[in-house]
Amino acid sequence: MSFFPTFLLSFLFFSFLVSAQQNRNPSFFNSSDFPWQPTQNRTLYSPNSVFAAGFSPVSGSPNLYRFSIWYLSVTGKSVVWSASKTPVNRSGAVNFTSTGVLRLGNSSSGDNLWPGKTSGNSSATRLVLHDNGNLVFGSWESFKFPTDTILPNQTITGTDIVSENGKFKFVNSTYLYFNNSDLYWTASGTNAFKVMSSDGKVDQENGASFITSDFGIENRKRRLTLDDDGNLRLYGFDPDLREWTVVWYATHELCTIHGTCGPSAICTGDGSNSTSCICPPGFSPLRNSGYAKEGCEIKTPIRDLPNSRFIRLDYVNYTSPKELELDGKNLSICQANCTANRNCLGFLFKYDGKGTCILKLGQLLNGYWSPGTESAMFLRVDQSETANSTFKGMTEILETTCPIRIELPLPPDDSNTTTRNIVIICTLFAAELISGALFFWAFLKKYIKYRDMARTLGLELLPAGGPKRFSYAELKAATGDFSNLIGKGGFGDVYKGELADHRVVAVKCLKNVAGGEPDFWAEVTIIARMHHLNLVRLWGFCAEKGQRIVVYEYVPNGSLDKYLFPSGRVGSDRYEEKPMLDWGVRYRIALGVARAIAYLHEECLEWVLHCDIKPENILLGDDFCPKISDFGLSKLRKKEDMVSLSKIRGTRGYMAPEWVKSDMITAKADVYSFGMVLLELVSGVRNNQMQGSMIESEDWYFPGWAFDKVYKEVNVEDILDRQIKQSYDSRAHFDMVNRMVKTAMWCLQSRPEMRPSMGKVAKMLEGTVEITEPNKPTIFFLGDE
Ligand SMILES: *[C@@H]1O[C@H](CO)[C@@H](O)[C@H](O)[C@H]1NC(C)=O
Ligand SMILES: *[C@@H]1O[C@H](CO)[C@@H](O)[C@H](O)[C@H]1NC(C)=O
Ligand SMILES: *[C@@H]1O[C@H](CO)[C@@H](O)[C@H](O)[C@H]1NC(C)=O
Ligand SMILES: *[C@@H]1O[C@H](CO)[C@@H](O)[C@H](O)[C@H]1NC(C)=O
Ligand SMILES: *[C@@H]1O[C@H](CO)[C@@H](O)[C@H](O)[C@H]1NC(C)=O
Ligand SMILES: *[C@@H]1O[C@H](CO)[C@@H](O)[C@H](O)[C@H]1NC(C)=O
Ligand SMILES: *[C@@H]1O[C@H](CO)[C@@H](O)[C@H](O)[C@H]1NC(C)=O
Ligand SMILES: *[C@@H]1O[C@H](CO)[C@@H](O)[C@H](O)[C@H]1NC(C)=O
Ligand SMILES: *[C@@H]1O[C@H](CO)[C@@H](O)[C@H](O)[C@H]1NC(C)=O
Ligand SMILES: *[C@@H]1O[C@H](CO)[C@@H](O)[C@H](O)[C@H]1NC(C)=O
Ligand SMILES: *[C@@H]1O[C@H](CO)[C@@H](O)[C@H](O)[C@H]1NC(C)=O
Ligand SMILES: *[C@@H]1O[C@H](CO)[C@@H](O)[C@H](O)[C@H]1NC(C)=O
Repeated sequence: MSFFPTFLLSFLFFSFLVSAQQNRNPSFFNSSDFPWQPTQNRTLYSPNSVFAAGFSPVSGSPNLYRFSIWYLSVTGKSVVWSASKTPVNRSGAVNFTSTGVLRLGNSSSGDNLWPGKTSGNSSATRLVLHDNGNLVFGSWESFKFPTDTILPNQTITGTDIVSENGKFKFVNSTYLYFNNSDLYWTASGTNAFKVMSSDGKVDQENGASFITSDFGIENRKRRLTLDDDGNLRLYGFDPDLREWTVVWYATHELCTIHGTCGPSAICTGDGSNSTSCICPPGFSPLRNSGYAKEGCEIKTPIRDLPNSRFIRLDYVNYTSPKELELDGKNLSICQANCTANRNCLGFLFKYDGKGTCILKLGQLLNGYWSPGTESAMFLRVDQSETANSTFKGMTEILETTCPIRIELPLPPDDSNTTTRNIVIICTLFAAELISGALFFWAFLKKYIKYRDMARTLGLELLPAGGPKRFSYAELKAATGDFSNLIGKGGFGDVYKGELADHRVVAVKCLKNVAGGEPDFWAEVTIIARMHHLNLVRLWGFCAEKGQRIVVYEYVPNGSLDKYLFPSGRVGSDRYEEKPMLDWGVRYRIALGVARAIAYLHEECLEWVLHCDIKPENILLGDDFCPKISDFGLSKLRKKEDMVSLSKIRGTRGYMAPEWVKSDMITAKADVYSFGMVLLELVSGVRNNQMQGSMIESEDWYFPGWAFDKVYKEVNVEDILDRQIKQSYDSRAHFDMVNRMVKTAMWCLQSRPEMRPSMGKVAKMLEGTVEITEPNKPTIFFLGDE
């Protein structure tokens, strides 16, 4: 047998290669290199040294090995493919058999673990690892037998991947299933994924595609992995952070993944990356497990079906093997119907005005709490059950998340009373500081309580398909031949219209859009996926005859600038008298806008930088709920365009210093712009107009001036909007206003890295983090380029 010398020789040769010349690592093995055993410590390297293949030890079992392919020099998960789930022991091998096929096993008998058919073919004698991570043997390739991961350039069409724990499956690169049959996610438009490029674009069937948050960075190490929690995520390896970062994921809301919690348990998410499972009242974890994750069972089995009672669980939804929908029924009919059905475990009642009632029969699965459901589950329990509902808040949330019925006063005719009031306020100021803080806490509690709900609410409304594609004729009809012009924005003119289904829309005809139609489509699809209470919803688009039109929901009250700077609007001949926004409303606007930007930056993985935050782009909906418009559109433009464009429009006052310098634009540019908006909300004056009217100095800089007022003179009142100063009550408003101004100071730091993230900004405004003293914002960048 020539086995031993060959092995020794190749081992020595290999050791020599590894120690002496890293870049001459073998990228293929031929027949004379087999058998290949775990104990030989041999590895194949792709010629570009990005991937390696060989036996890797199974973690926790030092004498067991899997034949795998992995990314070299990454931290975190590196294995991207394994020949089999079953490991081999030290006497196992990959061998080249006499019939010319590859064989993997503990010994030369038993099952062959090598996946697929490697056919006997005299020219297929080399096992080669390619630059893209594909291991090839004749016509066999590892890319055709993916495990839980897909690599760039790997054809995905028609393949399935399975999570490492075997619970979840991505079928035909379109559907996500739990337990092979329980569907919980479908690719947008049911368009199967085709291939992912190394710069972060995923092509789907029918010409559709989507891009990752780090799209455009070439040759980044990437992987699309079905994780053990059932979410499909695309990762890019960030060489600076030296870690995998998530750049796209299938579902925002982990609780929508089936099988996250066992039968009868209810999944709750906190809007972040984790979930928990809770047993509903009257239920306890299954005896044998003790964990709600495994499922729950009723504490007191129902002894007398007709006399059972119901516990109401707000915002909870279950799926059942059998469901019975009764339309147009009221709650008591629904309850009677469930009571009469011995298989009925409870019913879902929708508060949608139609009285939709769905009886849940047989089993309660995939329990899920989310304010987005707008419905309540009535769970059937024994008459003797005394437990109370722990899922409440249906009525409260509808009032607090945003629309609150408010009446705003019209601007006062005379502002002379202001000065007197200020004197009084200033004297009371110090004494009331403490009680003011207490009042503020009571006020804030409500907001903090529902913050997470609001977030979930925003996320929950994601549409199944993409945005609607309108024809030009449809939009022409809807807008009465583009007759009702309601605004001229930087991106184009906006017309009001009404669709055939009576939805009132704002139709924006975009100017100077770069890129072809597929790119436009891809971008618009992503913008349409952004759902948040404080973002204007995008309903559709049109890309006909060179036109680029986007269709938004119509937001009735117009933009924030009309309320903040009414007298400054000299250019407008149709000056309407707008009500004054009181402090509470201004605070809510600030918080809403901060949350929406934080959502864009953090929940949507930073890929939607707004890049043009200013009062004109903050629309006010019913009850002055703020809604950001134009987000994501800047992606359609180049950076140079943005700079020159903003200069022309005179919105330079909102642009972060890095726009003018040639630094990289990051999410922190939006933080800066938001800081300016915050200051303007408080002062009621445009940052670049106050200079002329108040102080005649060349290097006067609003943020710097405000900083001195807050931290040096400790006199926040000087900054306040003079039009509503008389309604400023330091007891009720001081902490709120103080927070807005101090947060603005942090946002306006000239160095991007000094500014907090938008998530932190929202927390600062909410009062959930302490605001320390920042550096004074400086003006250095405002040269005359
Ligand atoms: C296998 O490859 C080595 C070089 O790596 C070469 O010297 C040898 O001739 C090859 N054997 C066969 C059978 O192709
Ligand atoms: C392979 O590597 C392990 C650990 O690095 C070492 O203990 C073992 O002796 C090596 N085997 C051979 C055959 O060199
Ligand atoms: C190889 O042997 C190990 C234990 O020695 C066992 O766990 C493993 O399942 C075996 N694999 C095969 C393919 O038989
Ligand atoms: C590996 O497992 C096989 C059975 O699958 C067994 O016959 C063999 O002795 C094991 N070898 C070692 C080194 O454990
Ligand atoms: C590998 O296959 C050859 C025949 O092709 C056989 O002689 C040898 O014993 C096998 N080695 C192992 C470790 O399975
Ligand atoms: C993918 O294919 C493209 C074009 O064929 C090539 O430029 C790129 O380097 C490939 N990427 C990888 C990771 O193989
Ligand atoms: C053997 O494999 C090579 C490379 O995949 C292929 O070009 C050739 O047609 C195959 N020959 C036979 C007889 O299958
Ligand atoms: C898989 O997807 C492709 C492309 O969308 C489609 O043609 C094919 O019918 C699908 N197969 C199954 C089994 O769904
Ligand atoms: C979320 O969890 C997954 C799986 O545990 C992890 O890979 C990922 O890095 C986490 N973070 C984000 C932001 O998704
Ligand atoms: C429950 O509703 C179904 C469908 O409307 C109806 O057939 C059934 O008779 C109802 N049962 C009771 C007890 O109301
Ligand atoms: C409840 O869950 C089912 C299944 O996931 C879903 O089809 C239905 O739309 C949900 N109902 C509500 C009101 O969210
Ligand atoms: C449920 O609430 C009622 C009154 O709201 C209270 O008397 C009772 O003790 C509560 N039951 C439990 C189990 O907390």
